[in-house]
Amino acid sequence: MKTLITIFSGCLIFMSSAFGQTNHKILSPDKRITVEAGLNKSTPFYFVEFNNERIIDTSYLGFEFKSTEPIKNNLQIKSANVTSFDETWQPVWGERKSIRNNYNQLEIVLQESDNQNRTVNLFFRIFNDGVAFRYDFPKQDNLNYVEITDELTQFKLAEDYTSWWIPADYDSYEYLYNNTKVSEIDLRKYNYPTSGDRNHPNPFAVNTPITMKSKSGIYLSIHEAQLYDYSDMALERKDGLILQSHLVPWKDGIKVKTQTPFKTPWRIILISQNAGGLIESATILNLNEPNKLTNTSYIEPMKYIGVWWEMHIGKSSWAYKQRKDSWSFRETNLHGANTNNVKKYIDFASAHGIRGVLVEGWNTGWEFWGADSEGYFDFVTPYPDFNINELVQYAKSKNVEIIGHHETGGQAANYEKHLDNAFKFYQSLGIKAVKTGYAGTIIPKGEHHHGQYMIRHYRKVLETAAKYNIMVNAHEPIEDTGERRTFPNMLSREGVRGMEWNAWSVGNSSEHTTIIPFTRGLSGPIDYTPGIFDLTFDKYKDKERVQSTIANQLALYVVLYSPIQMAADLIENYENNPAFEFIEKVPVDWDETKVLSGEIGDFIVTARKKDNSWYVGGITDENSRNIKLNFDFLASGEKYNAKIFRDSPNSDYLTNPTEIIIESKEINSDSIMELNLARAGGFAMIITPMN
Ligand code: NOJ
Ligand code: CA
Repeated sequence: MKTLITIFSGCLIFMSSAFGQTNHKILSPDKRITVEAGLNKSTPFYFVEFNNERIIDTSYLGFEFKSTEPIKNNLQIKSANVTSFDETWQPVWGERKSIRNNYNQLEIVLQESDNQNRTVNLFFRIFNDGVAFRYDFPKQDNLNYVEITDELTQFKLAEDYTSWWIPADYDSYEYLYNNTKVSEIDLRKYNYPTSGDRNHPNPFAVNTPITMKSKSGIYLSIHEAQLYDYSDMALERKDGLILQSHLVPWKDGIKVKTQTPFKTPWRIILISQNAGGLIESATILNLNEPNKLTNTSYIEPMKYIGVWWEMHIGKSSWAYKQRKDSWSFRETNLHGANTNNVKKYIDFASAHGIRGVLVEGWNTGWEFWGADSEGYFDFVTPYPDFNINELVQYAKSKNVEIIGHHETGGQAANYEKHLDNAFKFYQSLGIKAVKTGYAGTIIPKGEHHHGQYMIRHYRKVLETAAKYNIMVNAHEPIEDTGERRTFPNMLSREGVRGMEWNAWSVGNSSEHTTIIPFTRGLSGPIDYTPGIFDLTFDKYKDKERVQSTIANQLALYVVLYSPIQMAADLIENYENNPAFEFIEKVPVDWDETKVLSGEIGDFIVTARKKDNSWYVGGITDENSRNIKLNFDFLASGEKYNAKIFRDSPNSDYLTNPTEIIIESKEINSDSIMELNLARAGGFAMIITPMN
């Protein structure tokens, strides 16, 4: 590890004052991004330029509190200080083996000019691919216990960008993306589910990451990093292209309850000359603290199959004894998580080198899932037909890990009561990975999945899991803000409209997976659960289906990053299908990642390297497309074998989704290959050196 901290003056920071305005200017290490920040009259502001083009216009900063005066327009600069940082570090797992963290930082110490003298420090970090800033409130006499009613952080867009967004919902990120001008963000114009616990608090508020494109072709995305004991920031469109921080409230309307000293999460603006550059950025990780876990020996990225899709399509049920009014109800008497069925999955996993088998519906309580009562899950009592001891032993004997499951139904308080016991129980059995779930209204009632109460809860779960050497894959999570760097047992999360929606709704559009790598994917790993081979599953459902070809499904293992990647289909649909070879071989932990090409909502081609092999995945939206693939990322002078899994000329997601061509070709770094992708099609490739 190399660390370099230098105090600069002169070349990195410029100061100017005019008309009551003081500016401090700071550049990215490559000097392409500039931020100017300071006070206008006595209100803090900043703006951002990229290659001398204004990206974010003068945007103001500040806070409102419940029972004290706001901090926003009464400030003076006490000092300003610039430092520079450059270090290369190795994540426990991820998209690349090593990560460079290189930025210039400007710290501005602000103090009120009246007799309250409250202070707040602003930190700006300028990376080569983006800008981050946060507020740091030191311990002080006149600001102790703090109730934030509004964070006034603005992102004033320099232009009416084209944007890809989902609505702010205090409880869910499971939406298809809209592509509109920022000025057209108005939820009332779009068709959102309003039933159940869906909650669209503000017609102009969207969730982050929101990704945008300028007329000149610059891409930017706004999100946050290191969200810890605060509340999730959505963005509300205000007049004049201002996106303003919109924090998810507690039940009583307060946004954040805290005490000095405290720091807000980082607010990030990623900036790139091409769409793929956003995905290649590691800035969100660099803005998190280094690994805090002393023991990481149990942490293991893996592929998994599971007793899962069969419940979603109605082949079996989660509940051992069904109740008609439960969300778990299925028109079948088959309880999926029975010992014999799980053994079949274990056998299949073992035969195909898949490390994990997830089992949902193993524990008592599922017949009440969705009911208004509380406390029906205790997380330690198996149903009578599920012999957990036998199964864990059986799995271990076959080099397979059972992945545990904690569905809370949203009852976070009940889960916290059982938390230690639940993880202790799994640890005693030798289970080292758990999928969590919060499908349902949060109890305590009135709190939200994305509010500070739950952010504390998710962190508590993660820390408890770490105490028992367990990895977490969270569904209905809080958005990722890069905490996997600090807690590498935080493997993956949902927080996306995933594969399951294809089982019981109109489904995900064909372009959905060409958007999420550039939006949701910027926040962190996605447990999308790809790999459906029987794309129409007519045996179980007539209307529902997956809107893609089988080659597209394979490509998702490369295009969507997750250290825990499911092969989601029924195992009988994989038996004897040669396309499964790709899923068997594709790694989940990488040495290098490159986005070769892509346009948001149209297509994307990603290449990832493990040891000496490369894996390439490409997908297209509802339009068929020819993609010219250039292999200049390969070592020159080396011969490679490319095993290609691609659409056939007859493939089509609507009429012929399962046809696939599998072939091998010799290539080198000078090769150029033309691939014809069907509508909602794709290709996947394994490239290995010949010697
Ligand atoms: C929703 C999750 O996303 C899904 O994966 C799970 O099967 C159900 N909840 C039940 O826990
Ligand atoms: Ca957010």
